[in-house]
Amino acid sequence: MTTTTAPSPVLEATGVTMRFGGLTAVRDVDLTVNAGEIVGLIGPNGAGKTTFFNCLTGLYVPTEGKVAYKGTVLPPKPHLVTSAGIARTFQNIRLFANMTVLENVLVGRHTRTKEGLWSALLRGPGFRKAEAASRERAMELLEFIGLAHKADHLSRNLPYGEQRKLEIARAMASEPGLLLLDEPTAGMNPQETRATEELVFAIRDRGIAVLVIEHDMRFIFNLSDRVACLVQGQKLVEGTSDVVQGDERVIAAYLGTPFEGAPGDEEVAEVEAAEAAGTAAATPAEPEAAATPAEDAPEAPAAEDAEETPAAEDGTDTDDAPAAEEASEAPEAADETEDATASDASDAQGSTTKEGNAQ
Ligand SMILES: Nc1ncnc2c1ncn2[C@@H]1O[C@H](COP(=O)(O)OP(=O)(O)OP(=O)(O)O)[C@@H](O)[C@H]1O
Ligand SMILES: [Mg+2]
Repeated sequence: MTTTTAPSPVLEATGVTMRFGGLTAVRDVDLTVNAGEIVGLIGPNGAGKTTFFNCLTGLYVPTEGKVAYKGTVLPPKPHLVTSAGIARTFQNIRLFANMTVLENVLVGRHTRTKEGLWSALLRGPGFRKAEAASRERAMELLEFIGLAHKADHLSRNLPYGEQRKLEIARAMASEPGLLLLDEPTAGMNPQETRATEELVFAIRDRGIAVLVIEHDMRFIFNLSDRVACLVQGQKLVEGTSDVVQGDERVIAAYLGTPFEGAPGDEEVAEVEAAEAAGTAAATPAEPEAAATPAEDAPEAPAAEDAEETPAAEDGTDTDDAPAAEEASEAPEAADETEDATASDASDAQGSTTKEGNAQ
């Protein structure tokens, strides 16, 4: 069990909804993370997990709903969210490739340093003292994640797993009270995944609450005090790992098996009715084949399924090897999504800078 302290909420998201034109990517989601907790957020690809993170961190302005940190409602601006105490990592790694490992962590400290532009240009005693303190703290964080020996390496030369860890150190450099991790083990091998699990426990033990998105079910259920499952933008289930793990609706959602009252059911029924009315007589065979890929899929569609729903196997498989294989395949597809969201976010916000993104 965990070393949960008082059940005081660190994060309270209430009725968060995000629409993109006609698409509702996140629908009326409530989620609380208490001090001392590790909360997992799961859901099939495209369920709205990253979009929800983007709403929490001000990258997106939610269409509806509010986000409060330690009782104060946050304005949807990334730099204000970061300075309030929420830090994050990205599904698609966003390091400064040509900076050193240490410099990347120092960038993460910018919200916690008070020295202004003139102080930096003049490099007065106040600035030098603050800079030394920042470097010391950054080195301490590198020590913590096990990368101190690579402080002077360019971040682009780090192996993938270490880049993910560096992102965590950079996020921690802003001294957050809540850390949001978007697929921290994507692309990692089983050993790295296990080490990341330990790292997240250690982060929580430092007094930082954690909300983590992952497709690796073993990782998420080992780690989390509570798990929430998003499906088609809606929170389908929330509970302890045991409860969520055994919930048939969660399993069905991952396997793509329909179940009564599933989110999106009504829309699917409407579309099917419209299609049936328009094309029933003409082409009955194809839609049927497409509607049942999981049960009797021929070989080619099965490969497609594997790419698009990497969590499907994770959800039912306790073996490491398939999960690792999945993970190594996932980032590319995932990266594309994240790239799209990131650039869209920048477009939408105009002022979203790389540093803002690197919060
Ligand atoms: N900026 C955007 N504009 C339009 N649609 C978007 C935007 N960002 C996300 N979406 C859509 O919102 C839905 C949810 O996407 P999101 O990336 O949040 O899913 P996810 O649960 O993180 O998936 P994955 O597990 O693959 O990372 C998808 O249908 C996606 O295409
Ligand atoms: Mg995502």
